[in-house]
Amino acid sequence: MKIRTATPDDIPLLLQLERESTTAAHWTLQQYTDLFRDGAAASRLVLLVEKDDVLLGFLVAHHIASEWELENIVVSSNERRKGIGARLMQGLMDAAGHSASEFLFLEVRESNHSARRFYQKTGFQQAGVRKGYYRDPPEDAILYRLQLRKLM
Ligand SMILES: CC(C)(COP(=O)(O)OP(=O)(O)OC[C@H]1O[C@@H](n2cnc3c(N)ncnc32)[C@H](O)[C@@H]1OP(=O)(O)O)[C@@H](O)C(=O)NCCC(=O)NCCS
Repeated sequence: MKIRTATPDDIPLLLQLERESTTAAHWTLQQYTDLFRDGAAASRLVLLVEKDDVLLGFLVAHHIASEWELENIVVSSNERRKGIGARLMQGLMDAAGHSASEFLFLEVRESNHSARRFYQKTGFQQAGVRKGYYRDPPEDAILYRLQLRKLM
């Protein structure tokens, strides 16, 4: 099993894996393509885990100034609870640590209990609720925050 940054060649497989998960964030092909555009790529991180060239999971994150946001994370349904999500998160935290960032944020549907337990296990703390944040179906978002570095 290996972890690496994704390239535009990976987009079809990222899209396919994301489509298989009802609770993952769903993006268009154009949105995935835009991740790798000049200008966008510098503030973005697309990490994937694969084994024998089979994609097992990936995450997408971006950073602005001292904050990172996890935009999506998905692990193949028959590969869950094997530490792949944790490995992706560790890769993100390593990258965020190198950028000297202070916080990592994310939003998740209130009803996505397995992802919420995963985030809590990773060390995130609930930082707020965004009422009616999601559509189709409408639902509140729970905002989580992880402190990457202690403030002086
Ligand atoms: C959330 C997700 C990425 C976690 O990936 P994963 O590879 O299964 O996570 P890990 O195996 O690294 O889990 C690490 C720890 O998180 C917790 N955890 C993960 N999934 C859990 C679940 N379904 N129920 C309870 N705890 C869970 C556990 O403490 C686990 O450690 P353990 O297995 O030793 O008990 C995965 O469930 C997924 O792809 N979900 C669908 C997509 C999605 O909803 N993404 C979030 C969008 S905001």
